[in-house]
Amino acid sequence: MLCPIPAAEVAEDLPELARRAWRHSNRCIGRAQWKALETIDARSAETCEEVFEALQSHLRKATNGGRIRSVLTCFPEWSGKEKEIRIWNHQLIRYAGYEAEDGTILGDPANRDLTRVAMSLGWTPPASRSAFDLLPVIIQVGDFLRCFEWEKEDVLEVRFRHPKHDFFESLDLKWYAVPAISDMIFATGDRLFPCAPFNGHYMGTEIGARDLGDAARYNLLPVIAEKLDLDTNSSRSLWKDHALLVLNEAVLWSFEQDGVRITDHHRASEDFLRFCEAEKRVGREVNADWSWIVPPMSGSSTGVFHRGYESGFEFPNFLPQVKAWETKRGVDLLVKNAKRVECLEGLSHG
Ligand code: ARG
Repeated sequence: MLCPIPAAEVAEDLPELARRAWRHSNRCIGRAQWKALETIDARSAETCEEVFEALQSHLRKATNGGRIRSVLTCFPEWSGKEKEIRIWNHQLIRYAGYEAEDGTILGDPANRDLTRVAMSLGWTPPASRSAFDLLPVIIQVGDFLRCFEWEKEDVLEVRFRHPKHDFFESLDLKWYAVPAISDMIFATGDRLFPCAPFNGHYMGTEIGARDLGDAARYNLLPVIAEKLDLDTNSSRSLWKDHALLVLNEAVLWSFEQDGVRITDHHRASEDFLRFCEAEKRVGREVNADWSWIVPPMSGSSTGVFHRGYESGFEFPNFLPQVKAWETKRGVDLLVKNAKRVECLEGLSHG
């Protein structure tokens, strides 16, 4: 006799739903790994402290001494505003961006607002500020909003050096090993999990081309070009391209030397195309966003550049949410919990 599985039971298979959400992520080139995603069930967490403890476990499991594992931690599902759980950081690990009076920023400009929010909640930056100060994680559970600092052992970082250029080490650059997105909503199709941080491992260009290379981020191409003695007066010297290459060599080499898992964009492209083939064989169409899939350097030297993709959407998936401090509720919580209101001045939309 046919015995259909009750819908509720199917819906309970969180790990499978999470794997599918990854498989459906149109912007992710790393999806060949989707079956390897491990899920930690933290749906019983009730307080900010319990959420933080679960996040520490998440990072330890994911970091795994450098052999990065893909992990998602699932917190209680949305059941009304009163009990909403959210992590305010875009990623679990982020570096502060301190804005000076003249508008210049020390650290990561992408985290300027988050840094202000953390300071307003009472977080004190280190006595001597650097470009790579770890931000605390800001956790909201219902009406409570709290900051927690990571323990040193929880955060694996890689210092950058270059196999051929000795000057590189003296630039004092580093990055963290685990990219864990913490501000997206995990939507199964019939349920919402506004707090479900997940991580994979890095592709080198994410750090070397974008995080450290973008003019609106660490903007290091001019610094490296100068060290390499390149002609920065003419764009035709391709100084940016040279600097970009050296920076990306340093990122990949240093991660590898330290035994920290990372992939390069050529390998990632091959893996992604194989994933597309494998999906086709089981009768599924891969939806993808070309502008996100194609790596930010040497695009046309990767296979993913030379084709198009369907742009549909499927549940389960991960969706963006309005930044917590830009919601009415977030602003109310900030005002209520702020220890240093003056830090909130100039916050976008705050
Ligand atoms: N691009 C982001 C960063 O540079 C990380 C996004 C997620 N990346 C990943 N490999 N899972 O921090």
